[in-house]
Amino acid sequence: MNVDELKKMAAAAAVEYVKDGMVVGLGTGSTASPAIRLIAEQGLKIHGIPTSQVSADLARSLGIPLLSVAEVRRIDLTIDGADEIDPQGNLIKGGGGALLREKVVASITDCEIIIADDSKNVPVLGQFPLPVEVVPFAAPLLIHRLTAFGCVPELRRRGGKTFVTDNGNYILDCAFGKIEQPGALEQELRRLPGVVESGLFVGLAHRIITASEHGIDDREVEGQFLNR
Ligand code: A5P
Repeated sequence: MNVDELKKMAAAAAVEYVKDGMVVGLGTGSTASPAIRLIAEQGLKIHGIPTSQVSADLARSLGIPLLSVAEVRRIDLTIDGADEIDPQGNLIKGGGGALLREKVVASITDCEIIIADDSKNVPVLGQFPLPVEVVPFAAPLLIHRLTAFGCVPELRRRGGKTFVTDNGNYILDCAFGKIEQPGALEQELRRLPGVVESGLFVGLAHRIITASEHGIDDREVEGQFLNR
């Protein structure tokens, strides 16, 4: 089974939780996209809240009616991907650059379901460079300041140009190696003026669904949540 088939399997398992009438957060990336397609294929009558322009365009092209975050106070369920998942259900997200909207959506979601192929499970976060969204004005300064946090920050570029998020910001990809205390690091990063948000998602995932050659692992995350 190749990785795309595993992503689709995880997406299908998550879509089983979607019911008619729900407001559903639509994640971003190569694992979340099959979930959006399945929602449309199954004719589920939902309203979607996209986490990026790309997901909005995909959902619209499939005829899924959309709402904006400004029009809701709570979201029933969100299906989104992740770049790394630790045993406590903490995540690194933002490989696709949508971390800010993904985190806003997660923060008002009753059931945040994270889907991935099992290569995303790690014992400790940090092998995947942590995406940090910053205002362009402060980017050079923050490269310097973030280095003092023990990482190697790199300004994200795509197609020979600086990558710009849906919010008009830049991304610094920060190679930490190991992040032993994701909650503490998330708070410290937030205190740096010019940092808009980091891709550390702590206490936001309620359910993790991963797919491997052996099938689906669907587990509820235990602990304290920031969005419940
Ligand atoms: C988008 O910004 C990300 O948070 C994605 O959810 C994450 O990068 C996982 O993407 P894939 O499912 O494409 O690996």
